[in-house]
Order: sequence, then C-alpha cells, then structure tokens
Amino acid sequence: MTAFWILLLALVVPALVYVLRPLGREPEPFPADPRPEELKAEIAALRQEARELEGAEQKRVLGRVVLLERRLAELGGERAPAAVRRLPLAAWLAAALVLLVVGVVLVRYTLPRAPGETITTSSQIGGERGPDRAKLAKLARLKEAAERKDDVESWLAYANEAWDLADYNAAAEGYKRVLDLDGKNLTAWKRMGILFFMSGFPEDAAQVLAVVVAMDPTDTEALLFLGNAYSMLGRFEEAVGTWERYLEAGGPEPERVRSLIAQARGQLEAQEANASGRSPDGGVVYRAKCAACHGENAEGGLGPALAGNPVLRVDGALAEIVNNGTGSMPAVPLGEDELEALAAYLKGL
Ligand code: HEC
Repeated sequence: MTAFWILLLALVVPALVYVLRPLGREPEPFPADPRPEELKAEIAALRQEARELEGAEQKRVLGRVVLLERRLAELGGERAPAAVRRLPLAAWLAAALVLLVVGVVLVRYTLPRAPGETITTSSQIGGERGPDRAKLAKLARLKEAAERKDDVESWLAYANEAWDLADYNAAAEGYKRVLDLDGKNLTAWKRMGILFFMSGFPEDAAQVLAVVVAMDPTDTEALLFLGNAYSMLGRFEEAVGTWERYLEAGGPEPERVRSLIAQARGQLEAQEANASGRSPDGGVVYRAKCAACHGENAEGGLGPALAGNPVLRVDGALAEIVNNGTGSMPAVPLGEDELEALAAYLKGL
C-alpha cells in the first residue's frame, strides 16, 4: 500500500514539474515573423532593378514594388504576438489538470481489494487487516452459493459464517431462510432466539429458547441465553434453574455463570422479602443491589471493599452515596428501611 503511494507520487510529481515548468521561466521573446524583412529586402532589390530598367519593363517592376509595399503595410499593422503565447499556456494548464484528475481517479479506484468487495465494505472492515477481508469475501461467496442452491445446508453455512463475523443482520436473514425451508432446524431457532434477546425482546427469546432447550437439553449456548432472558424478565428462579443446567452440561464459562446465579439469587431473595412484607434483610439488599460491584462478601470488586470501610462510620455518608452515587458509582434507589437494614448489615461485617 505504501509502495503504491510512493510509486504514484514518483509518477505524478515529475510529470507535474515537467508540465508546469514553462510557467516559471521568463517568456522567450517571440521570434519576429521573417516575412516583413524578406519583403523589405525584395522591395529594395526591385527598386534597384527598376532604376536600371526602362519603359514597360520598369513599370512592371515598379508595379510589383507597389504591390509588395501594400503587403508589407498590411502585415505590420495586424500582428499581436501576446495572443500567440497565451494559447499554449492554457493548453499546458489543461494538460496538468487532466493529469491530476487521472491520478486522483487512479488512487481512488484501483486500490487493491479482495474480490467482490466494494470500497465501502473495505473501509468498514478497517482497511488492511488480511483475515477480515478474506472472511468478508468468504461470506459473499457463501451468500452467492446459498442464493443459487437455495437449500438448508448452504443458507445455514452462510448464516453461521455471518454469526461468527458478528454481522447479525446477515445472520438473521440467513437463519430466517433456513426456517422457511426447514421449520424444525434447531440451530436456526436457537440463533433466532439469541437474536431476539440481543434486540431487546426477552419475552420472544425465552419462548423460542425454551423450545430449543426442550429439544436439546445439553445445548449450553441456548441454556445461557435462556437464563439471560428469564433474568431480564425478572423470572429469577427460572434463570437460576436454567444456568444450573448450563453448569451441569459443562458450559464453557462456569465462572461467569456462577456469578450470574449468585446475583439472581440475591434478586430473588429481595423479591421474596418485598412480596412477604417482612422488614428487609440487610444481607439480602446487599446481595441484590451492591454485590455485583462490591463483591459477594463486600471484599471489593469493581468498587472498593465495604467490609470495615471507615466511610460506614460517618453519619449519613452511606445514605448520601447510595442515594446520589459517587464518582463512577451510579445512584442506587433504595427505600428508607432497606437502607437502614443495609447499613446495619455492612457495619456488622
Ligand atoms: C455499578 C456498580 C456499583 C454498584 C451497584 C454499587 N456500587 Fe458502590 N461504588 C462503586 C464504585 C465504582 C465506587 C468507587 C466510586 C469512586 O470513588 O469513583 C463505589 C463506592 C462506594 C462507596 C464509597 C467507598 C469509599 O471507600 O469511598 C460506598 C460506601 C459504596 N460504594 C456503597 C455501595 C452500596 C451500599 C451499594 C448498594 C446499595 C453500592 N455501593 C452499589 C460501584 C458500585
């Protein structure tokens, strides 16, 4: 790429210098038309000749002298040398302009690209990283093949590739076509369910993924997102149950899912405490509202440790921080009694 630019500069710069050179120079004096001098010489010669002649011969020669003198007078009056010089200058400028345009067009449209790629997709993918371009070209080939064959297998191949590239619009298009052709394709249903979840439709996601999980109870990807969908819907009990099945099935991210389970349990306890109208339990409030950032046992995480934190001994500080947030911590809306229970719980740690 850099080499290309250097080559282009190496071509364009000398060409421009060459083309524009006449502009920098003092204009050369335009050589006078030789004809008047010739005419004058001829007239002088003819006059000399006429002097030596007589009669009709002399008249004929003098007649020619008159003719030539009239020509000379005509020539002397009409010439305008400046106009003659301006024409080639304009031509040079036009040539330079054409050259410049050709150069720009070359740069713009002949950059090396992967087959089937447009300038737009090339810049979207981020320029020069080879594998991405190769993948993009592969995706284009798969789409072409899918449109040609129009069978489940090739649409699935296209959609899966788009999914891996995080091109979710293309993936949705592919999976939808798979389902048109084969209404029972589990992979397509699963991915559509996840796409529902990612687009903010947890209800639809939960419905679709529940069916997928019923058909294949060991599909950990489906289990993970089904749990996510339940959790987003506030159905924490079902979320915990689903994620526990994920762990049993040996899903690839047990740590992350365990912490999701812990949070959901906290939310669940808080829900139950609210529903039963009991006075709130500080530990329950803590796990539901604070543990995600301050650690399961207030030992610190994203936010500082709260166990034994001197801030807790300052009157009203906790309420102030929780109600209004501090630094990068957002405000956490809590009821009066929840806050009281929480303060007591934290002081006891
Ligand atoms: C979204 C994450 C998050 C949540 C939820 C959260 N905090 Fe924080 N908290 C933080 C961060 C980050 C800080 C440090 C803020 C700073 O100084 O920039 C912090 C700071 C604090 C501090 C001040 C600690 C110090 O040493 O200055 C207290 C007290 C605190 N949080 C209490 C709570 C309580 C109680 C809850 C639950 C009701 C809670 N936080 C919920 C992220 C969170």
